[in-house]
Amino acid sequence: MAATVAYCVCYLRCSFSRIDLSDLAAKLAQADANGEQVLAIVATAGTTDAGAIDPLVEITAMAAERNIWLHVDAAWGGALLLSEKYLHYLDGLELADSVTLDFHKQFFQTISCGAFLLKDARHYELMRYQAAYLNSGFDEEQGVPNLVSKSLQTTRRFDALKLWMGLEALGKKTVCRNH
Ligand SMILES: Cc1ncc(COP(=O)(O)O)c(C=O)c1O
Repeated sequence: MAATVAYCVCYLRCSFSRIDLSDLAAKLAQADANGEQVLAIVATAGTTDAGAIDPLVEITAMAAERNIWLHVDAAWGGALLLSEKYLHYLDGLELADSVTLDFHKQFFQTISCGAFLLKDARHYELMRYQAAYLNSGFDEEQGVPNLVSKSLQTTRRFDALKLWMGLEALGKKTVCRNH
């Protein structure tokens, strides 16, 4: 295979605003034919305009077969994780390499409160920024949590606190009434 290149898969969306699987397959085959390595597929669980959820199970399988990174933007639809009735719409999400969730959307938190999650925690190492004045050797040796190695931001607000408090105060059932 030729030198690995970053490749952007532009896929059609079918009439339900979901990724058109046959078009995605054709784009991947074309990349293969061109000797290009596809860097990532980005699917959406809850598009901004239509709320559409891409066929995650099928896309996950296509990505796994070719060893392509799969990211799912679940900023909008990720709150279905709390829903017993609609949770199945997110089937396949658990297999994604990375996921974004916005708690300031359907989790009803104040702006901003979002998360970038990785299936394999070792991949956080890729975004680690090592600076002597930020990463204390003592903290690292002692295992003191330091989010500077898990975030692109340096100064971090304690966003998780409001999410935790909201869920504790309302309970899953109350939050789910809206989903
Ligand atoms: C699907 C989706 N992804 C990402 C975003 C970006 O959201 P934010 O900039 O609030 O994190 C939005 C915003 O509406 C969205 O609908």
